[in-house]
Order: sequence, then structure tokens, then C-alpha cells
Amino acid sequence: MRILFLACLRANTGNSTTADRIKSHLEAAGHECELRDSAGLQCPLEVAKLVSQRKFDAGLAIHVYKAGRFLLANRIPFGVIFGGTDINEDVKNEEKYRVMRAVLEDARFAVAFTNKMKKVAEKLWPQAISKIHIQPQGILSMPNLSFDFQAFLHNAGMLQIPGKTHIFLLICGLRRVKDPLYLVEAFAEWHERESSICLAIIGPMVDPLFTNEVKVQLHNVDGVHLIEEIPQADLQALIKRSFAVVNSSLSEGMSAAILEAMDLEVPVLARNIPGNAAIIRHEHTGLLFSNPKEFVKLAKRLMSEPDLKRKITNNAKNYISAHHSWELERKTYQNLVHICLTEEL
Ligand SMILES: *[C@@H]1O[C@H](CO)[C@@H](O)[C@H](O)[C@H]1NC(C)=O
Ligand SMILES: *[C@@H]1O[C@H](CO)[C@@H](O)[C@H](O)[C@H]1NC(C)=O
Repeated sequence: MRILFLACLRANTGNSTTADRIKSHLEAAGHECELRDSAGLQCPLEVAKLVSQRKFDAGLAIHVYKAGRFLLANRIPFGVIFGGTDINEDVKNEEKYRVMRAVLEDARFAVAFTNKMKKVAEKLWPQAISKIHIQPQGILSMPNLSFDFQAFLHNAGMLQIPGKTHIFLLICGLRRVKDPLYLVEAFAEWHERESSICLAIIGPMVDPLFTNEVKVQLHNVDGVHLIEEIPQADLQALIKRSFAVVNSSLSEGMSAAILEAMDLEVPVLARNIPGNAAIIRHEHTGLLFSNPKEFVKLAKRLMSEPDLKRKITNNAKNYISAHHSWELERKTYQNLVHICLTEEL
């Protein structure tokens, strides 16, 4: 089957990794799958043309509103995957809500990443209840085994004290909502007393204006490094070499970086917000902090209590295998496409 897959691909690495992964699941089942950026589309008509020219048999979209609406009024069967903004933002707009209802009416299946998301969606669109499935994001980490860590540290201007450097890694797109500077002051102070501690902030420089602001603010700060985005496999290698992965943002949703760190058996220190508390149980699968001071306290504990670190990374790895299985995700999408999109309903 030829599948047209629409997703918002720019400015959000999380979304496009998910899309790539699902695409690979479908290709593994023998389908052809073409991924298109929904942000570049204007109207359903444009998609209709694409469908008839390129002879697509079925459609799939991540984000009911931002992408799914373009599949309306096409004759191909399609499925949708809920995106965070569908349920957190777009639904508040009456016109968008109406469009999403139409999309869900026509869609043959809808996927929610979490049970909570499914519950909310069912309340909003009760007529779609029977179509909504839960499938958490699958995690499959494949770190670049030949990643040159020393060269990376050197290029990033990071001082390497052999066997001693503790890198805390904050992975995030540079946008104000991600609050990347939340821990900077605490780190600078800590670094002054313990020079082996450093914070590396890494991610796409999404907002150029804000990126500049961050650069200016970090200019005279020792112990905090801003690093431009690197390929996914290299990033995973870097996670593996870090002491801990940090999440300090206030935004909603589920952080793929956190899940990957858990899979790579690297401890996670995350701000105590609903999205993070949904994946991390404090002192069990990670550590949750509520302010910079508490962050430093917990980070120090993690450094001085190897047993705590071992317990957390073991539990986290088990959690990922049980709840974010890549194999299960593959089966779910292959089945949904096979059952819902190939057979005439
Ligand atoms: C892996 O790391 C090496 C050394 O840093 C680099 O040359 C290579 O391009 C990386 N490979 C991938 C697939 O990213
Ligand atoms: C932190 O976690 C939240 C919730 O899990 C997520 O939405 C956000 O993108 C993450 N941010 C960073 C900087 O990792």
C-alpha cells in the first residue's frame, strides 16, 4: 500500500523522530510511506492533487488539527495520531474543534500516546470512542558507537578532567517556553566550588532572537555550555557519556529525551511538572525537583550515592521496556494500518 504520512516536521525534533519511527514500522510491513511536512500545506485540495498524482492508497497524520484536516475530503482511508497541541490548545478554538470533530468522524482510527490523553479525547469527541487506541511512544536507542567524545568536548570548549567531569545534559530547542536558563545560576555557583561539574545545553536553535539572548547571558558564565544540535545517534552517545540528563522546562507533553536517557541507563533529574511526574516516580525511576536549590541537592546525592544511581537507572530501564516497547509500537501500527486501512469498512 502507498501511504501518505503528514506531520509537522520543522522546529520540533520530537515530532519528526516519532514520524520517522512510525514510517519505519510501516515500511517494515512492506508498505511505501511518504512523509510530508504538514506545515508546508495550504488546503485539502492540494493534498487531493497529491493523492491522485502519486496514487496514494491511504493516509496517516500526526496532529488531528495541524495535519489530519488536510486528509479530509479525500477519498483515501486514513488514521490520525493525537498531538499535544490538539488537546491542550487547538481544542479551545471553536472552529478548530469543529474541524477536529470532522476529522475524527472520517478517520478510521485515532491513536493517543497516553491513557490520560485518550480519556480527554473521549470526553471531547464521545462519538469517536470506539476508534481511539492507546499506544505510547516506542523507544529504541541506537547510540553512535564511534562517536568521538573527546573531540566533541574539545570542540565544545569543555574542559575534560579525566575520569572526573560530571556533565549534566539539558536537551532542548532554544525557545522561551522551554526555560533553558532555569538552572544556570545554580550551576555557575556550583561550578565555582566544584570545577568538575558542568551543564551542557544542547538542541536546535529554534528561535534566533532568543538564541542570541541566551548566548549573551551565557557569555561570562563558566561551567555552562551552549552546544548546537548534533545528529540523533551522536546525541544518544553523548547522553550515554553524561552523568545525568536534566529537564527543567515547564511545557506540557512527554519528553523523548527523558525516555531515551532512561533507556540508555542514564539517570534523569526533571522538574516536577505533570508531564514529567507521569513518567518519573521520585527516587524510583528518576529524581524530581521543584527549584534550583533542590536540584543541586538531589544532583549531589546522585553523585555521592552510587546505590541510588544504580537503583534508579535499573528501574528506569525496566519501565521503558514495559511501557515504551518499540516492538509493541511496531505491531500496533502495522495492525491498525492492516485492519483499518486495507479492508473496506
Ligand atoms: C559517529 O561518530 C563519528 C565520530 O564522531 C562520526 O564521524 C560519524 O559521522 C558518526 N556517525 C553517525 C551515523 O552519526
Ligand atoms: C521536559 O519535559 C517536558 C514534559 O515531559 C517536555 O514537554 C519538554 O519538552 C522537556 N523539555 C526539555 C528541555 O527536555
